Amino acid sequence: MVSTNTLEAVQRYKQKSLPYILEIEGIRKEFPGVVALDNVQFRLRPGSVHALMGENGAGKSTLMKIIAGIYKPDRGTIRFQGEEVTLTSPLDALERGIAMIHQELALMDWMTVAENIWIRREPTNALGLIDHRKMTAMTQALFDQLSIRIDPTAEVSSLTVAQRQMVEIAKAVSHESDVLIMDEPTSAITETEVEHLFAIIRDLKARGVAIVYITHKMNELFEIADEFSVFRDGKYVGTHASADVTRDDIIRMMVGREITDMFPKEEAEIGDVILSVENLSLPGTFHGITFDLRKGEILGLAGLVGSGRSNVAEALFGVTPATEGTIRIAGRDVSIGSPKDAMREGMALLTEDRKDTGCFLPLTVLENMQIAALQDGHVKMGCVDERGLTVLCKEMQDALRIKTPNLDERIENLSGGNQQKVLIARWLLTKPRILILDEPTRGIDVGAKAEIHRLISRLAQQGVAVIMISSELPEVLGMSDRIMVMHEGHMTGILDRSEANQVKIMELAAR
Ligand SMILES: Nc1ncnc2c1ncn2[C@@H]1O[C@H](COP(=O)(O)OP(=O)(O)OP(=O)(O)O)[C@@H](O)[C@H]1O
Ligand SMILES: [Mg+2]
Repeated sequence: MVSTNTLEAVQRYKQKSLPYILEIEGIRKEFPGVVALDNVQFRLRPGSVHALMGENGAGKSTLMKIIAGIYKPDRGTIRFQGEEVTLTSPLDALERGIAMIHQELALMDWMTVAENIWIRREPTNALGLIDHRKMTAMTQALFDQLSIRIDPTAEVSSLTVAQRQMVEIAKAVSHESDVLIMDEPTSAITETEVEHLFAIIRDLKARGVAIVYITHKMNELFEIADEFSVFRDGKYVGTHASADVTRDDIIRMMVGREITDMFPKEEAEIGDVILSVENLSLPGTFHGITFDLRKGEILGLAGLVGSGRSNVAEALFGVTPATEGTIRIAGRDVSIGSPKDAMREGMALLTEDRKDTGCFLPLTVLENMQIAALQDGHVKMGCVDERGLTVLCKEMQDALRIKTPNLDERIENLSGGNQQKVLIARWLLTKPRILILDEPTRGIDVGAKAEIHRLISRLAQQGVAVIMISSELPEVLGMSDRIMVMHEGHMTGILDRSEANQVKIMELAAR
């Protein structure tokens, strides 16, 4: 008799000798009002990293959700390990060896890290109860293998976005799949963590795992991907080896035109000080933050994830107010105890975490756009000028090129990048004097990114004071008048546009 182990080994061998582990042909997927995928093909080699590129709404996530058993295609065939398959559910896909890490993180906040990873496969003791000690040990072993340093017994709600990302990755790896799909895995993590992730990916690849890697970051493609496929408006454009093309070739394939200026920063008149922050502290989080911000100025806020940048933004906006220090707006001491106070002072904050604090998923695009403007006192005498607001929303949709069949679509049906654009529109509609943007172009495609940069630049010209947190140094350098750098809760310096460069920022950020 042949043992199952031997059978598995034979199967794995067979699989290795196939040129493709996954072959997709003629896939079509329609949603009400949108053809998300039209006659699409895709072929994946074992032991390789295959990047998917394309503008926001091109159909990348939809295709991967079909491969992961979440959506059923309207038409087309999927061959996995040489045989045609019908994937009936995500569990079916997972059991066959296809795992996916989603663009929008989907961990259960109230459960521990270990519980999240082993959900529905918890180890049990002799009594059939969950064996927590064993589960913790299994998690620790997994984390050791991946060099992840997170406490398995911590509650997920206490983790940073980057840590959650790592937990998701570990969870997917724990399934020991043959195909691992990563949908924008680095959108919430900075350089050191990206290096860490890439080390994990290289290790998995060496073990024969095929990895599909969706990203908007061109440099990642050249660093990690063996080949890539491009999609545009639901159509397959082509597949090439990464070594055979240039950055401009890919952009042309993606958007069908060239983008010459990624950072169209225009000269804006720098006016009076509008925001003056002195010695702002929140013990244990950040200390002694002092800076002035002028009308028309763009202040970049750089630093590693965890350096306290987002905490400072949240303190200014009253989400988690500082306990020491003063905030002056237009020369007046203000006390900001809640986001409502901040909005009354003309502030707006685009948060970095669009799922938890950003989108209201069950609501429509229009409702999501209007919500801040409605709370902001744009309601005159208790009466809402709904028609006027809707017209403004339509203008925003055009200006930001938000791809949706109509404004009454539920926001959860929009692609990740288009959700982000809706949130930007939400805050612009409040006509802020001080606009705080936390990672504004995360998950946004190259074309739309340049558009958003242009928009920020134009707002500054209109006198809006902007604070922009970004982990992308080219973006910080390209857009900011001055750059404040943080390290472990402290300001380590403020650089002027004329003197700033990547090396200086990294020196201040990493100390
Ligand atoms: N469940 C759904 N219901 C309705 N429309 C949907 C649904 N999922 C996706 N779409 C639409 O299908 C199109 C493709 O979306 P998809 O999420 O695949 O894009 P993407 O390439 O992943 O974009 P991004 O880079 O912004 O993440 C978009 O127009 C989107 O609005
Ligand atoms: Mg997507």
